[in-house]
Parts: sequence; C-alpha cells; structure tokens
Amino acid sequence: MELFNDLVIPVGSSHLTLIRLMLYISASFLFAYTGLLFGSVFLSYRAASKAKKDNDFRYQKLAQDLIKVGTGITGMWFGLGIVPFLSFILGYPQLLAGTEGDVVGYIIVGLLVFSMAVASIYVYKNSLNFKSVFYSFKTNVRSKSESIVEDYHDLDEDIENTGAFTGIWGILLLIVATWFLSGATTYAYDNSMWGQSIFEMLFSANTTFKTLLILAMGTAFASAVYMFYAFSWQGGYKFANEEVKNLSKNFVRKFGLNSALLIPLLYAFQIVSIPNNALSGLMFVFGLLSLLFVVFFAQSIYLTKAEEHSSGIKYGFMFIMISFAMFAAQDQQAFHISVAENLNSISEIHTKAEEERHAGYASSEEAPVVDAQAIYDTRCIACHKFDKKQLTAPAYNDVIPKYEGKEAELVKFILNPYPQNTKDYPAGMANQGLTPAESKAMAKWLLGKVLGEGDKEAEPSAEKPAEEATASK
Ligand code: HEC
Repeated sequence: MELFNDLVIPVGSSHLTLIRLMLYISASFLFAYTGLLFGSVFLSYRAASKAKKDNDFRYQKLAQDLIKVGTGITGMWFGLGIVPFLSFILGYPQLLAGTEGDVVGYIIVGLLVFSMAVASIYVYKNSLNFKSVFYSFKTNVRSKSESIVEDYHDLDEDIENTGAFTGIWGILLLIVATWFLSGATTYAYDNSMWGQSIFEMLFSANTTFKTLLILAMGTAFASAVYMFYAFSWQGGYKFANEEVKNLSKNFVRKFGLNSALLIPLLYAFQIVSIPNNALSGLMFVFGLLSLLFVVFFAQSIYLTKAEEHSSGIKYGFMFIMISFAMFAAQDQQAFHISVAENLNSISEIHTKAEEERHAGYASSEEAPVVDAQAIYDTRCIACHKFDKKQLTAPAYNDVIPKYEGKEAELVKFILNPYPQNTKDYPAGMANQGLTPAESKAMAKWLLGKVLGEGDKEAEPSAEKPAEEATASK
C-alpha cells in the first residue's frame, strides 16, 4: 500500500494526538455500527424465517421493524460505516509510519466487503417491504381472475427468495467485514503479526474473540434499539393488539438477553488474548468499564419482562452504547501503548525538520530564547513539585534522576509523553503541547535543577523549589 504510505506526513506530537482522537472516534462508530447492523439483519432474518416456517405474518411485520434498526436513518451506513473506515485508512498509516505494520490493505478489504454487505442488506430490506405489499394484496383484493392471482403468487415467491438470499448474504458478508475490521485493529497493535501471512492475522485468538464479541454486542445493541423504539420512545409503536406486542417483545428480548450473557465470556477471552506489548493498566480499566455496562444492560433488559419496567430499556440502550465506547477506548489504548515508541520516532522526524529550520537563524539575534523557568511556572507547576509527590504527578526529584546523561530521552518524553509510572498514574501525563525547542530547554533546565548537570545558568534559582516545599508543608 505504497500510495497510503506516501500520504504520511511527518507530524508534531500535537497532531499525533489529534489523529489518535480521530481513530478513537472512528473505532467507536465502526465497532458499534457494524455490530448494530449485524444484529439488525440477524434478528430480522430470524423473524422472517419464523414467519415463513409458522406461516405467521405477525413475524413478518417484526422482521420489517427489526431491519429498520440498522438501516432506518437515511445514509447511516455511509456516515457511521464508510466514513470511519476511510478515516482508519488515513489515520493508521500515520501512526504506523516507518514500521512493518502495513495495516491498510486489511482495512480496505474490510471496507469493500462491508459495502457489499450493505448493498445486500438494502435489497433484503426492500424485499421485506414488497412482501408486505403482496400480503395486503392477497388478503384485501378479492380478484376473481385466476391468472392475476397466479401472477401475484409467482411474484410473491420471487420476492420471498430474493429476501432469503440477500438476507443470508448480508449476514455472511457482514461477518467477514467485521472479521477484517477486528483483524486489522488487532494487527495494528500486535507487532508479532507484522510481516506474517494474512492467516496469522485472521485466525489469531484475539481477532477471533474480538469478532465474536462485536457480533454479540451488536445483537444486544440491536435488540435494545428495537425495544427502545417499540416500547419506550414517545409511547412506543402502535401494535395491532397486546398479543402481537408481547410476541414481538419476547422474541427480541430473548436474543438481547442471551447475547448479554455470552458477552462477559467473550470479553474475558478477548482481553486475555491481547499481546503483551499492548497491555497497560488503563486498557484494563476501559475493558472492565465496558463489561460493567454490559452487566447493567443485561439487568435492564432482564427487567423488561414486567410491563411496568419496559421503559427501563432506554437505560439499557444507553448502557450498551457506553459499553461500545469503552470497548473502542480499550482497543485504541492497546494500540497507543504498542506504538508509543514509534510515535516518538515520528515526532523525531518532525523535530529534525524543525531544528534544521532553526539552524538557519541560530547564529543570528532572532534565535528563539526559551525561558524554562517561565514554562514551569505557567504549565508544569499545576501538577509537579520538585520534592513532593502529588496525586496529580510524581516529584521531579524522584523521576528526573533516571534521565541522568539521557537528556535526549527526557526531551522525547516532554515532547510526547508516554506512560512511565503506570501503577501510580495509569492515565499518564497529557501532552503539554511544547515545541521541540521548548522541550529541549525544559529538559536541560530540569536536569540542571535536580542533578546540577546541563544548564548551569539555572543554578542560581535552585533554592526556589525548597522554598516552595516549606510553603506547602
Ligand atoms: C495535568 C498534570 C500534569 C502537568 C500539567 C504536567 N505533568 Fe508531567 N507528569 C504528569 C503525570 C501524571 C506524570 C506521570 C506519568 C507517567 O509516569 O506515566 C508526569 C510525569 C512527568 C515526568 C516524568 C517522566 C518519567 O519518565 O517518569 C516528567 C519529566 C514530566 N512529567 C515533565 C513535565 C513538564 C516539563 C511539564 C510542563 C511542561 C509537565 N510535566 C506538566 C502530569 C502532569
């Protein structure tokens, strides 16, 4: 995928943060929407099959309502599916630049299969709608003409077959698309797969469990969305009678509940199969939160059995959405940890370019002068003291010594912080948005203050932290 690697531009650390944010948002949409769409077709297809098997048209109506869950809003497949796929294609190579992780090909395959699935699903949806039209014809038009009735009959059968065919293809293609999506996101953080064959990627334990998890969560999500619209929002749907209402509720509720029970198991397998190079405390926090919200979801869908708790499904709907958002956060956190090293090398390229630019006027008066003390006083002091560890951040006197003689590494950290003391500070330090020149001055100054090496000019003010410490006692 040379083309996309050519699009990679050397970016500074603040841009990298922006790209990470974009990837996170895209991952939330993609996981949630592919899941939802799958749940929607899957449930609809099951309802339609039941309608045919039992010759019970009430399920046909349910199938129609269920497919609306994933396709009801015009263009949602584009905004929530295609667009995030495209941002993956643009975003991932930026962060994997210079590594062997060539993830774009897999994402493109995912996108193509996803598009085919969407096409199938829309044909399926239309055939359900036609089926209903034919049904009203059959029941309402008392035609005496044998030939017209026969015509209807043939067309009806045709529609029925198209529906069954495109429905099953929609489901299969969507599973394959989800598989590639999971595979690509796993591949991005599992560097043991880089340079290996496509089968390594598709059949790794993490890819497999992630795929199953998205499908199960999607089924839960689709059932929550249906139940929300049917029984809660603005008083719910107008059902023909109580019986139809209960039959629809029980059908969907069963799938929602079963998938909610399956999710914790899949989640556990998914999380233990994440490779070591991507593990971090924060990632587990996101994973656990995601799981917690699935439990809340299960609770609220369980309670819908009683009529008076039906509207509680609106919380279930919210819980499962949050759960998806946390799942995407877990995934992107794993990616972030695994590429932290690489992120630094990307901003190094940027730093070099920047330095060259500065070298142009380094000797002249215009060379930018950076006042490290001022930066500390305005930006770092909020969290850091020199001699006292705080809830917000470690004491410089504890963490700076390990950078003795490694100024360049300290510059790297300040320019683009990556997790260090994950035990005490699982969230790490937020990027402070310093320029390379500022980071360099800052590193010199910190080393000077704590170890007395580097920037000797900083020495005279070395008493200040001591004063501060007494003040804070
Ligand atoms: C919002 C709070 C906050 C601000 C503001 C902040 N930091 Fe930090 N800093 C942290 C936290 C939290 C950690 C611990 C992160 C970790 O260990 O992963 C940390 C760790 C560090 C470390 C130690 C890294 C290591 O290897 O252990 C250095 C150096 C540092 N910060 C420098 C700075 C500088 C320079 C500034 C100002 C430009 C600054 N920090 C501003 C929260 C902050």
